Amino acid sequence: MFSIEKNKDLTALNSLAFKSSAESYCRIEQETDLSQAISFVKKNNISFQVLSGGSNLLIAEYVTGLTLHMQIKGRKLVCETNDELILRVAAGENWHDLVSYTIKQNWQGLETLALIPGLVGASPVQNIGAYGKEIKDVLVKVRAFDVKQLDFIELDVEQCEFSYRDSYFKRNPGRYIITSIDIKLSKKFTINKNYKALELYFSENNITVIKLKDIFNGICVIRASKLPNPDKISNAGSFFKNPCISHSEFSALSIDHPEIIGYRISESEVKVAAGWLIENCGWKGYQSKGVGVYHKQALVLTHSGGANLGQLLRLAEKIKNSVFDKFSITLEIEPQHFP
Ligand code: EPU
Repeated sequence: MFSIEKNKDLTALNSLAFKSSAESYCRIEQETDLSQAISFVKKNNISFQVLSGGSNLLIAEYVTGLTLHMQIKGRKLVCETNDELILRVAAGENWHDLVSYTIKQNWQGLETLALIPGLVGASPVQNIGAYGKEIKDVLVKVRAFDVKQLDFIELDVEQCEFSYRDSYFKRNPGRYIITSIDIKLSKKFTINKNYKALELYFSENNITVIKLKDIFNGICVIRASKLPNPDKISNAGSFFKNPCISHSEFSALSIDHPEIIGYRISESEVKVAAGWLIENCGWKGYQSKGVGVYHKQALVLTHSGGANLGQLLRLAEKIKNSVFDKFSITLEIEPQHFP
């Protein structure tokens, strides 16, 4: 049975640690809590929003309506063969704990997605990805509550319409509330091309026979070396998406900026490293009045205390303007406004 708290402090529930409180708040610990909570908001004609791990959010100081905090826990082996298995994981499980668990079992699939903050339920929304792998590559289906039809539905990977940091859920905000995901993992380890970023780590650590746990450990070391731990330095991960531009635009920019970093993603597009663009506008390590640009990775904006969302967004705007002035590229903010 769900119960409602009034004026709940959300400061500790958003990784940018902006001061925030919710008019009304409830924990969702099972699917029935969710259907009851939605019936309640419909009956009382109030607004609602779904809070997950709070690690990719731009939270308002006062969040009106009912905040539903997704805390459904559990993992279940759905089926398995000699080679692979399908694991069902509830939305309220911590993402990195899930990755660690699968590595301990020696199941392959999530190893490059280690140390991504947040909870499982949010992972398909922005199609989390790192080091050449995205959740879409292992996802089988998503179970969600459809707020319009007032019923649970299951969407397969095609229906989720995934693309870079985007999905059907992100394009239909407020309609679906994810309660669990099914992922397919492999029991047989195969080395694949996605591990390029790790080559230096393997050679420095004299790892010649590569095992699954070496990849996981390597990703943890690499991420910890360039991304701030939100428990120590408040941040929301990459603050901007890596912009996609045409090959001809990229070639033109390369004439004036031969060092520019871009990755071919299709016949028509190149994904440009936004961190490089921001660093090359001189922002890396910038700090002012509690907000700043992380000194090891310019794509990450930080909050060191005492500032508010407006100040961070003003900094983001200045960064966007300077990147546009220098490279004629428009950066897009990645974290989501809440509400
Ligand atoms: N770079 C710079 N300066 C910087 C930052 C990056 O020159 O300040 C250069 C790097 O040297 C590298 C290139 O830009 O050559 C790409 O950098 P990196 O490998 O750190 O990855 P990224 O493109 O900046 C993306 C994801 C991260 C993910 C990493 C690793 C986005 C928006 N971000 O960052 O995801 O961990 O790749 O795969 O796609 C997140 O979404 O919150 C996140 C951290």
